Amino acid sequence: MHHKKVTGRTAVLASLAALMVMSVVAAVLPAEDDVEGTWAKIMGPIETDNSCDACHGSEVGAWKLTHHFATFRNRHKDKRAKEIRANLGVKRMKDPAPENMCLECHYTMGTKSNKFRPRWGVSCESCHGPAQDWVNIHYKVGGTADGKVMKWGDGKNEPSAQRAARLDAAAAAGMIHSEMIYEIAVNCFGCHTVPNEELVNKGKHKAGSDFDLVAWSQGEIRHNFVSSAGAPDNPTNRPATKQQLRRLYVVGAMVDLEISLRNLAAAQDMEGAYHAAMAARVGRCKDKIQQILAAVEIPELAAVMKSDDPATPDQVGAAARTFVRTHDGSTLGAIDGMIPTAYMGSAYKE
Ligand code: HEC
Ligand code: HEC
Ligand code: HEC
Ligand code: HEC
Repeated sequence: MHHKKVTGRTAVLASLAALMVMSVVAAVLPAEDDVEGTWAKIMGPIETDNSCDACHGSEVGAWKLTHHFATFRNRHKDKRAKEIRANLGVKRMKDPAPENMCLECHYTMGTKSNKFRPRWGVSCESCHGPAQDWVNIHYKVGGTADGKVMKWGDGKNEPSAQRAARLDAAAAAGMIHSEMIYEIAVNCFGCHTVPNEELVNKGKHKAGSDFDLVAWSQGEIRHNFVSSAGAPDNPTNRPATKQQLRRLYVVGAMVDLEISLRNLAAAQDMEGAYHAAMAARVGRCKDKIQQILAAVEIPELAAVMKSDDPATPDQVGAAARTFVRTHDGSTLGAIDGMIPTAYMGSAYKE
């Protein structure tokens, strides 16, 4: 029998971690019963009364060209999906029962006729957090319900204290906004390391993506319309700055290590494909981080990489959060040569 485990993933995990920054991530995982509570907070990207597309047409246009969108339409039909399902005895990939393990990573749940069901692929709220509690404050000055409603593009001229108050209020209500790159990365790797031993060993699902945060976020995923010039009349999707790419590269490596260590420690079958894949992944992450450290000084990162003192996942995560707070990327030019320049899929331009 498959027992439903809320394994180390989902936007829930990252938004809770964001609220309780210093606590042990595993300790703030929602109780199993909270899965439906989380689904109930999903507004949806399209097709609902309060969905993101009411205001974010350009982002939705970009998202519709991604694998994250297409997985809802196509993935359940292909041969590999059928094989994996057969190996696990999963009847339908879109079976809405909470214990169907495909739901967690491939779909966003919504309600239709008062029932939860998968309605979209990986969507806005898979990355930015279920929106019910933050959607009506994140675009209001000061982040209060009665704050002045912002127009598209107002954020570019917003005083920084006002912006911080708005985004902090939204984050406290569960939003993972664009500056929370640690929490965003936790979400990406929470799905892309495929932290589900049964799915990998018994189901023969791919044991994780060969995922670099820069290479994977700057192609088809990129949607920097709000901070680009000209919105909304002439929306453009600006590339990330050099400084942001450096931060993403380092945070990606750290979070990959954190989650892979966690997955490795949780592995039960030392002979299985899952254990082997996670051990290899940990090795690759360490190599990548050592390479970074050979080029630049990042003390918090060096502290958890001492070979005689193997770090725990929590220590690596704490170091990653410190890094995000203390580095704007300007001093990391020496790693530019390591950062991938070929991206997954091409970014959408309007
Ligand atoms: C823990 C997250 C997670 C879960 C749970 C999950 N998947 Fe996936 N799946 C992924 C990711 C991430 C990819 C993309 C892999 C890549 O491109 O590197 C993927 C890709 C796939 C693919 C295409 C890759 C291939 O091997 O052909 C199939 C098919 C698939 N999943 C089927 C399923 C089925 C069926 C289930 C449920 C039994 C399921 N997945 C559950 C994360 C997950
Ligand atoms: C009623 C209009 C409206 C709706 C609905 C709406 N947004 Fe927004 N959103 C805005 C405005 C306005 C801004 C600020 C634009 C700016 O900064 O100039 C914004 C900004 C954002 C930002 C950027 C903040 C940051 O820097 O990280 C994100 C992310 C975001 N919205 C996500 C969403 C998601 C996801 C949904 C759907 C659940 C959604 N929004 C629904 C109007 C809306
Ligand atoms: C809720 C789980 C989930 C989250 C969170 C997530 N992904 Fe994915 N991602 C998937 C799945 C599942 C697929 C495979 C979809 C398919 O083709 O069936 C995928 C596919 C992709 C692809 C396409 C890969 C290809 O084969 O071309 C890219 C690129 C990608 N993800 C990047 C990201 C980035 C960057 C983040 C974080 C900012 C992220 N993903 C967060 C589940 C997730
Ligand atoms: C795969 C994860 C993922 C998905 C899906 C996703 N976002 Fe984002 N979003 C991000 C990341 C990562 C950033 C920050 C990028 C950066 O600053 O480098 C971001 C930034 C943003 C911003 C701010 C952009 C700017 O110019 O500053 C907005 C607005 C936004 N997202 C809205 C949305 C909406 C609406 C959707 C759904 C149509 C969506 N996002 C889907 C990961 C995601």
